[in-house]
Amino acid sequence: MTEKNHYFEQVEECVGFLRELLPFIPSIVIQLGTGLGDLAGQVQAALTISYGEIPNFPTSTVSSHQGNLIVGHLHGTPVIILQGRFHCYEGYSSKEVAFPIRVLSLLGVRTLILTNAAGGLNPAIAPGSIMIFRDHLNLLGDNPLRGPNVESWGPRFPDFSVPYDPDLTGLALMSAQLCKLDNVITGVYACIPGPSLETPAETRWLRGCGADAVGMSSIPEIIVARHAGMDVLALSVISNVNDPDRMQPIILEEIIAAAAAVQPQLERLIIEVIRRIHAGEKSIHHPTNHLQDGTR
Ligand code: HPA
Repeated sequence: MTEKNHYFEQVEECVGFLRELLPFIPSIVIQLGTGLGDLAGQVQAALTISYGEIPNFPTSTVSSHQGNLIVGHLHGTPVIILQGRFHCYEGYSSKEVAFPIRVLSLLGVRTLILTNAAGGLNPAIAPGSIMIFRDHLNLLGDNPLRGPNVESWGPRFPDFSVPYDPDLTGLALMSAQLCKLDNVITGVYACIPGPSLETPAETRWLRGCGADAVGMSSIPEIIVARHAGMDVLALSVISNVNDPDRMQPIILEEIIAAAAAVQPQLERLIIEVIRRIHAGEKSIHHPTNHLQDGTR
């Protein structure tokens, strides 16, 4: 069996399973990252299923990640929540990491919102900021679209000249203002494979490459979502800011605690954004106050 057929069949099997099971198919999926899973508690769930019960879904090996797919309403808006994600450092290929998003795209989900914790590289960014991805650097050394392309899923060479939908970014910036959040910025996210954290030289190099923040997740899912024609809003909580000349140890417990501290603000932002997407407002709000990267 070719690689294409095997992955294709795994995806198709999972799509068929979820199509039968899901009570309805929301158009928005929200994937929650490290220390940011609490939003799931606010969902009026119609269905909760653990990743382990879904055919061919990878299962998370990281204890800070729960593994549940939840379908329900978040303050009145239909959503799918992916509570927990997979990472290349766990040993998964980026194709495997992005498996859930490929499946959901084929079920008809149109918008991906994802959250993660990241380390700041731009010294103008304060810890506790929320960074909306404006662009990214994929430094994984892998791409989820590697291998034979399934034409019905998307083009062989997808365009990435506008990786993040400006309307959605504008909507998020406006929602931040409405929520009176003064810690929301835009910036460039660099995705490294991990799991070792950056050395001072790597930190300096990443900053020199134009990255505002660095983390180990989300880019496989984003590439697949874009390949499938979905819009993406990616939000990093900047848990720590790394200065290559005064490098401090980066400790997971501290990252989780810092993410948790910003979680209520992130939740308010997401709830406002999805309410407006649901109300059909996405296309009419343009980013009038485009913030400079790393500044308010
Ligand atoms: N580096 C990489 N990943 C991270 C960091 C960091 O400093 N902080 C949170 N996730």
